[in-house]
Amino acid sequence: MAGMRILVLGGTSFVGRAVVGEALTRGHTVTTLNRGLTGPDVPGVEAVRGDRSHDGGLDALHGRSFDAVVDPSGLVPADVLRTARILAPGTGFYAFVSSVSVYPDWKSVPVDERSPVHPGEPDEEGDPADHRRYGPRKVGCEQAVHLVYPRDRALVVRPGTIVGPYDNIGQALWWLDRISRGGTVLAPGEPSRPLQLLDVRDLARFVLGRVENWASGVFNTVPDGPNTTMGAWLGHAVTATGSGAELHWVADEVLLAREVLPWWEMPLWLPDLPENAAAWATSGAAAAAAGLTCRPVSETVADTWRWLASGGRATSMPNLPPVGMGEVRERRILRTALAGR
Ligand SMILES: NC(=O)c1ccc[n+]([C@@H]2O[C@H](COP(=O)([O-])OP(=O)(O)OC[C@H]3O[C@@H](n4cnc5c(N)ncnc54)[C@H](OP(=O)(O)O)[C@@H]3O)[C@@H](O)[C@H]2O)c1
Repeated sequence: MAGMRILVLGGTSFVGRAVVGEALTRGHTVTTLNRGLTGPDVPGVEAVRGDRSHDGGLDALHGRSFDAVVDPSGLVPADVLRTARILAPGTGFYAFVSSVSVYPDWKSVPVDERSPVHPGEPDEEGDPADHRRYGPRKVGCEQAVHLVYPRDRALVVRPGTIVGPYDNIGQALWWLDRISRGGTVLAPGEPSRPLQLLDVRDLARFVLGRVENWASGVFNTVPDGPNTTMGAWLGHAVTATGSGAELHWVADEVLLAREVLPWWEMPLWLPDLPENAAAWATSGAAAAAAGLTCRPVSETVADTWRWLASGGRATSMPNLPPVGMGEVRERRILRTALAGR
């Protein structure tokens, strides 16, 4: 349906920003609701100020009606419940951006939409910056949506790792920044290790395609199977940045012996451990059958580098470990690894 009135809850950072951009490109009228703290609204939207974390913070939405709402920013179930209840009388369709973190078990392959999820509570309160309950709260957020909206009027997407311009987590950005500085770069584990990375713009296109048709459902929004490898990913970064960096691969065991923190200190690195067995093997079959398409990873890397090189920066996420390894520690580990060759 062209020319819809779409409300985006948030819309100024990464996923929400991409959803707004895609919706405007498709000719929709977009309203965003946020506190005006994180960043400027995308030009072309109607920007409405509000705070979904407390009663009274959403007064600006009372009496408003939209054809659909997209909620990329819900982290606390009570906030999602509050927002859904206010919107339900005037807004027919609710699209919620959840996460594959709803699944607690990453030992069994495959993780698909029927896999067990964490226990969740649709009215759980809390601090959105407390990431310890991220997965269970995402379950609670999904429950909150389904409590207010009938199943055929709600879309839930569960992305895995999202990459692309305006990234606000920073794993991919750290690699681009490190590789742009050139020299010998510590590359973790195996170059052939698979990765499953979704470009934020492909996620936005999938969400909008379904929103336009009020097409409901619950989908793992990941490429259906690994779409790149650690070696290819870092290789694209060398090409995009033109730095001539040389990758030196250091085995999992060496990094673990040095207590390198997987995922955070070496971004995107998940060593071969039983608890990671399914990490890059989430089933995206249902989303693929429903039309999710994924651009080449080389395009994502090139576009992200272009954004970063023109001044783009990851916003720091409170209460999360720092992303990336310091130069001194990298040199030390490399020195030992090279000496042992
Ligand atoms: N990055 C990944 O790899 C990944 C993977 C899986 C799932 N996800 C999910 O994807 C989503 C990413 O969201 P995003 O940050 O990119 O979305 P976004 O919509 O681009 O940015 C978050 C928005 O929420 C607004 N906001 C924050 N607190 C608010 C409040 N109390 N009241 C009203 N607005 C508020 C912020 O603006 P103000 O601060 O100005 O209010 C900002 O506009 C998250 O739900 C995350 O769980 C991400």
